[in-house]
Amino acid sequence: MARHLLLPVVMLVLSPIPGAFQDSALSPTQEEPEDLDCGRFEPSTRIVGGSDAQPGTWPWQVSLHHGGGHICGGSLIAPSWVLSAAHCFMTNGTLEPAAEWSVLLGVHSQDGPLDGAHTRAVAAIVVPVNYSQVELGADLALLHLASPASLGPAVRPVCLPRASHRFVHGTACWATGWGDVQEADPLPLPWVLQEVELRLLGEATCQCLYSQPGPFNLTLQILPGMLCAGYPEGRRDTCQGDSGGPLVCEEGGRWFQAGITSFGFGCGRRNRPGVFTAVATYEAWIREQVMGSEPGPAFPTQPQKPQSDPQEPRENCTIALPECGKAPRPGAWPWEAQVMVPGSRPCHGALVSESWVLAPASCFLHPSSSDSPPRDLDAWRVLLPSRPRAERVARLVQHENASWEDASDLALLQLRTPVNLSAAPRPVCLPHPEHYFLPGSRCRLARWGRGEPALGPGALLEAELLGGWWCHCLYGRQGAAVPLPGDPPHALCPAYQEEEEAGSCWNDSRWSLLCQEEGTWFLAGIRDFPSDCLRPRAFFPVQTHGPWISHVTRGAYLEDQLTWDWGPDGEETETQTCPPYTQHGVPVAAAVSILTPRICHCLYQGILPPGTLCVLYAEGQENRCEMTSAPPLLCQTTEGSWVLVGMAVQGSRELFAAIGPEEAWISQTVGEAHFLPSSGSPHWPTGGSNLCPPELAKASGSPRAVHFLLLLTLLIQS
Ligand code: ARG
Repeated sequence: MARHLLLPVVMLVLSPIPGAFQDSALSPTQEEPEDLDCGRFEPSTRIVGGSDAQPGTWPWQVSLHHGGGHICGGSLIAPSWVLSAAHCFMTNGTLEPAAEWSVLLGVHSQDGPLDGAHTRAVAAIVVPVNYSQVELGADLALLHLASPASLGPAVRPVCLPRASHRFVHGTACWATGWGDVQEADPLPLPWVLQEVELRLLGEATCQCLYSQPGPFNLTLQILPGMLCAGYPEGRRDTCQGDSGGPLVCEEGGRWFQAGITSFGFGCGRRNRPGVFTAVATYEAWIREQVMGSEPGPAFPTQPQKPQSDPQEPRENCTIALPECGKAPRPGAWPWEAQVMVPGSRPCHGALVSESWVLAPASCFLHPSSSDSPPRDLDAWRVLLPSRPRAERVARLVQHENASWEDASDLALLQLRTPVNLSAAPRPVCLPHPEHYFLPGSRCRLARWGRGEPALGPGALLEAELLGGWWCHCLYGRQGAAVPLPGDPPHALCPAYQEEEEAGSCWNDSRWSLLCQEEGTWFLAGIRDFPSDCLRPRAFFPVQTHGPWISHVTRGAYLEDQLTWDWGPDGEETETQTCPPYTQHGVPVAAAVSILTPRICHCLYQGILPPGTLCVLYAEGQENRCEMTSAPPLLCQTTEGSWVLVGMAVQGSRELFAAIGPEEAWISQTVGEAHFLPSSGSPHWPTGGSNLCPPELAKASGSPRAVHFLLLLTLLIQS
């Protein structure tokens, strides 16, 4: 589509420039050679908000190739000179050889034959001597072309601002490039040059935004010579691969290059606008490098000095707050979406943007008819809170691993018309891959997929996240290293505060895990691991799917984590291995949970002597214990000490005699035995129903049907 537009645009460009430009104060003056007409404004229609550029719109944009591919952008400032970013050419503090680089000019789509484009070799690359790293500024470079570019409608230089040039804050300017369209999401074929409208931000505003605490303890000092452009709310930005490219602002019918794309934190994130090299600051340096080259770059005088001093007295710092994840009260989820597919029960999912709903793919997959879902989307409807009518569905995109991997049981449904976001419907926040939900985070469950609702008030059940170590050792990849905070976890484990309600059955209910940070809810996990008639105890993390979701939706609300704990680093790293349960094939330990007395009583039909502890082995650990002698039951306190809690009842792997009641006798006999005050045995709330849940009564003799209530570790010494 882009290509057949080429002809009319080229003709337009060749037509005489409207007279209005001629009498403006900026027609090439004596100081600039006649033939170097820079930054000419070519009327064209543009799509707002990060979209394909029209061919010929940005004739100074060049693509810098290295090793056969596009690496960075640049701008043509004179027939033999290209302006770009220093960091594009530096590896480990040294400048890469100019001969390895080539410059593509007049290119629009980088796919297939580059019609009308031409290439130039690079004779030299110059970088300011004081450049060291992007965060310290001076991120600019000049490339001297081996031979001059051939100027034409699609290849023209941009105007450079003088040091005295003042760009007014709030001005809408444009950034262009072939960089990623989202974090870690490359521009798709046919690699058409992208443009995005960005607003210039004042230094104080930018500094204020970057001073907002963020997940990586980042502090960025905006230095002189840097310029920010973007929006506090993010969502429009440059990204990896755009570096070196221009940020241009139109003044009096000419385009001036205000900035060079330099860096940012992530791309399009809230309160993290793009940082550019302020070109005006480097007028003298640029002039010095290009001295003697004819024609050189054009530095037209500023058409009209801004009325007000752009260095506004004090810019108010309006930081953007998350737009997602706000709920009036727990359980009233404004993102709750019900997908209605004719002939089947409603499927619960979550609204993740104006146009997209995330739901389990298993709702739409037919196990019988291979894996092709029914595509008669016309009859599908989506119910969202506070919407007068059901939404219609335009598209269903399944995760590629959806049909064989529970952790990827996801599908995205695109609504035919985007909904207006308000208090409701409002999307849930999604975590970035590096999100670290702190142990102890407050979480709740929300309906997910097509299961029957649990009998209990499941959505109001409060849970706290367990530490990653326990969760990993119990449900994660045994043997694999425990993920460090910041690495995507293999599982998320909620620990419930209330006891299991008699009669409530979680069987066949499907849930997602919502976790709260600073009053904002994140969809943290999906689908409990297959369990019996029990509370969901481990969830697949959603964060690993963040890139897929943003790739498909191009606008889902991925949000930085809002609470973090810089804490002492060591704490988490000390316990990076699961309890050793095998040594030369001999089992030495297994992770177990101690069951509540009521469940223990129900399971063993009241045959146990008082003070007996029942345990449940973690999944996959039941067969590890070959007991030759009575193993001790050890529990770790929150301070890390191990406490002897029980001794195995002979002949059983699940029953232990509690040590606690024997304290007096042990103290008398052993004298120096060390007892921890009241933490030696677990405490359970007493009272409540004495009835056994029917499933447990049925499951008598099979304690594996019972849910984990507390996670403890048993070390079996062989
Ligand atoms: N440094 C990146 C590059 O080499 C440009 C990053 C711009 N990032 C941003 N969030 N504005 O392409």
